Amino acid sequence: MGSFSRREHANKFHTTMIQKIENLIAQVNQFSATSAAEIEEFRIRILGKKGELNALLEEFKTVPAEQKRELGQKINALKTLATERINNLKASASAAPSRTTAIDDMTRPATDESLGGRHPVSLVKNQICEIFGRLGYTIADGPEIEDDWHVFSALNFPPEHPARDMQDTFFIEKNPDILLRTHTSSIQTRIMEHGQPPIRVVCPGRVFRNEAISYRAHCIFHQVEGLYIDENVSFADLKQALLYFAKEMFGESSKIRLRPSYFPFTEPSGEVDVSCNLCGGKGCAVCKGTGWLEIMGCGMVDPNVLEACGIDSKKYSGFAFGMGVERIAMLKYGVKDLRLYFENDVRFLHQFDKAL
Ligand code: DAH
Repeated sequence: MGSFSRREHANKFHTTMIQKIENLIAQVNQFSATSAAEIEEFRIRILGKKGELNALLEEFKTVPAEQKRELGQKINALKTLATERINNLKASASAAPSRTTAIDDMTRPATDESLGGRHPVSLVKNQICEIFGRLGYTIADGPEIEDDWHVFSALNFPPEHPARDMQDTFFIEKNPDILLRTHTSSIQTRIMEHGQPPIRVVCPGRVFRNEAISYRAHCIFHQVEGLYIDENVSFADLKQALLYFAKEMFGESSKIRLRPSYFPFTEPSGEVDVSCNLCGGKGCAVCKGTGWLEIMGCGMVDPNVLEACGIDSKKYSGFAFGMGVERIAMLKYGVKDLRLYFENDVRFLHQFDKAL
């Protein structure tokens, strides 16, 4: 009956421990999981209080002194490897947690992804263009960064007109000839320069004015300009087109009225009011008791403007009008603060998406 010598015993110890460690190293290298729970379970099995590593350390206490160094190094290597592997797996699991679980479980109800919708300003702008589209108007576009000629000079603005002041207009790099358009009437200049009558266009777009932001003003807003030029176009044609627009936009019972006004590019010029659709013309807080709401400016195109753009003012005449899209949307829906259009609060925006 032989018994192990001390040396034999020590060697046996050594090989079993090395095997155990290598076996664990292989397990750590092969382990892969994407769910946080699985990774945690593995961590507890290897690195936990009652885990494999602590069992090895317990065993390590009884290792003969001459083998401590080699085995100690191997155990440390295992510990570092396991810790790093587990940390890496945890990091990638938390980077994409929901996708894997969603795909893992095909029976899970789909997440409710609500669709975006059009902004009320876009909806109303499209509606304006569509109404005039039915009268034969096409849509024209133009640049937002403009020059003095297209925004002011061609449109008969006298050189000292306040709209050219630094307070009203954003100029680019101190060059007064390059500016952000203050109205979409600049598109009308471009259309007349490049084409001959008959011209029938609406020009929607963003405009810029150096104004303090308040409930009724903003440095950026939207306009739609309209222009109709042909032989024998009269003020009666203008009134009829605007009445048609008012009825389509604000309801069949809407009425319009025109008040004399002044714009450099039209003569005569007028302000257009629509009967208040909130009180039916009786007078309320929105129309300030008058029964009327101002919706746009208009007039017969000044012959100076026609000539500046190369159109024979003896042969042709025309009318133009221009309105603020935010204002039309405010009046149509009773929105009291212009800033709401720019805050992008979906609770506000979704109401219009459903309404139209
Ligand atoms: N461009 C004007 C503005 O920004 C609006 C306007 C008024 C346009 C009368 C017109 C018009 O075409 O005829 O205040």
